[in-house]
Amino acid sequence: MYKRIRTTTHTTTRTTTRTTTHTTTHTTTHTTTHTTMHTTTHTAIPLLPLPDDLRTLARVLRNPSAFLLDLCCMAGDIARLRAGPIDLVCINRPDLVTSVLIEHARNLEKMPAVKTLRAFTGDGLLVSDGDTWMRHRKLAAPAFHTQRIAGYQRVVADVVRDALAEWRDGDLLDLEHTFKDLTLRIISRTLFSIELDEVQRGLGDDIDTALIYVNRLAGMSLFPFGAALVPGARNGKAAIVRVDIAIRRLIAARRTDAASHNDLLAMLIDTRTAEGTALSDDEIRDEVVTMFVAGHETVATVLTWLFYRLAREPRAAAALQAEARTAPFASGDAPSLAQLEASPYALNVCREALRLYPGGFTIGRRAVRAFTVGEFEIDAGAWVIVSPFSVQRSTAAFADPLAFIPERFDNDAQRNWPRGAYIPFGLGPRTCIGGQFALMETHTVVAALARALQFTDETVGDAQVRPMIALSPDRTITMRVRRLHKKNRGSE
Ligand code: HEM
Repeated sequence: MYKRIRTTTHTTTRTTTRTTTHTTTHTTTHTTTHTTMHTTTHTAIPLLPLPDDLRTLARVLRNPSAFLLDLCCMAGDIARLRAGPIDLVCINRPDLVTSVLIEHARNLEKMPAVKTLRAFTGDGLLVSDGDTWMRHRKLAAPAFHTQRIAGYQRVVADVVRDALAEWRDGDLLDLEHTFKDLTLRIISRTLFSIELDEVQRGLGDDIDTALIYVNRLAGMSLFPFGAALVPGARNGKAAIVRVDIAIRRLIAARRTDAASHNDLLAMLIDTRTAEGTALSDDEIRDEVVTMFVAGHETVATVLTWLFYRLAREPRAAAALQAEARTAPFASGDAPSLAQLEASPYALNVCREALRLYPGGFTIGRRAVRAFTVGEFEIDAGAWVIVSPFSVQRSTAAFADPLAFIPERFDNDAQRNWPRGAYIPFGLGPRTCIGGQFALMETHTVVAALARALQFTDETVGDAQVRPMIALSPDRTITMRVRRLHKKNRGSE
């Protein structure tokens, strides 16, 4: 689509900044190169070229997420796209990222394209702002505290063990589909204490369909009457209704359930404001849908990419297998939280997958007032985009950024990286509420799978990212299962 950033100089105040190199090629070969600038005067933000042909425009409309990601990857430290009333600023430099997401959090709200998600999640945490967001965040936060993670981990381990028992030697798995099913079961059991049956697992497909629809809605909403022209609107709306019905049934069933539960749903139902008001069914529904949306596909796509890359990285795969062979739990079982400590390499594999394939690949805001970030001025009304995907592929922050090297994280090295360089779960007050949960979940899955089986990659060709709502691959990732425990049984 775009070949290069426009090179004309747009400097209002001359500064002594070094020139920035911006290397961008498409999809999995993206890298971002930036240099550090130190000035106090305002520098104009370099401009990105406008889409100038109909094919590109059609792509924008079909998949605005992919377009945004392209922009971020070609933006270098910072760059802007201006088109009519739209002023879109992409930021990659870690100090600017930190400043925007932490210091200027109050100057920003969720950007309009993110708000189209409202058609599906209502006013849930992902899209709400201001008092509603603050109130709901405070209500939901205790469900994700560190003390709760141990309890969730036991449930995650149970679900993973059950899944492992289902996969037979020689099975051919569509990995993304398999992991979506697994993560949906995990979210349902941990946060809502429900065991989804075969039919209810259709909820996952409905969530997919609804998300594709709202993603397209986001693109079309840039144009007058665009919302009326969104392809797949009928299916999308029907999927939203089915999810709505399923979640409302879940809430109604819980209200009449005499058993006591200690999960997020119970917290949402039982909570009272200082004035004694409970959340309405609509508010509870919005948060439940939000958790399914935010916590299911994100984790599934990270796991899919993780095993895809491992299948093509013999050195990392061998290191993971070596660690798994000495793990303190049986093959076919899943580790406890304490046993996970014996799998530090598996954790670093997860962190590295989250660096290269962060499920939440763009973070979008709108400036509610003008402010200055570093040496740049952001105008009121501008859309500000930070992409964990492009930030984490920076040549400035990471040696050989496209290589899959779990050892980068040895000795918790990420703690010494510049703040804002590694942000798979975002940064600041809007940081992912489920980050710790997600890391525990991926760690448990990877340690258990590495102990019990090996995947042989039967994917046709090389997969590239196809960003929609999550960072999906552009083709089916197909893996043949080989169970190790038959051979290992003697050593257990
Ligand atoms: C690998 C998995 C995940 C990734 C990469 C991820 C990434 C992110 C990112 C980058 C944000 C910040 C968005 C922003 O600042 O605009 C976010 C927010 C959020 N995430 Fe996650 N997430 C993951 C898993 C989860 C899970 C498992 C849950 C819940 C069970 C969850 C729930 C949420 C919610 C509710 C928000 C909105 C928080 C707020 O604005 O207060 N996420 N996530």
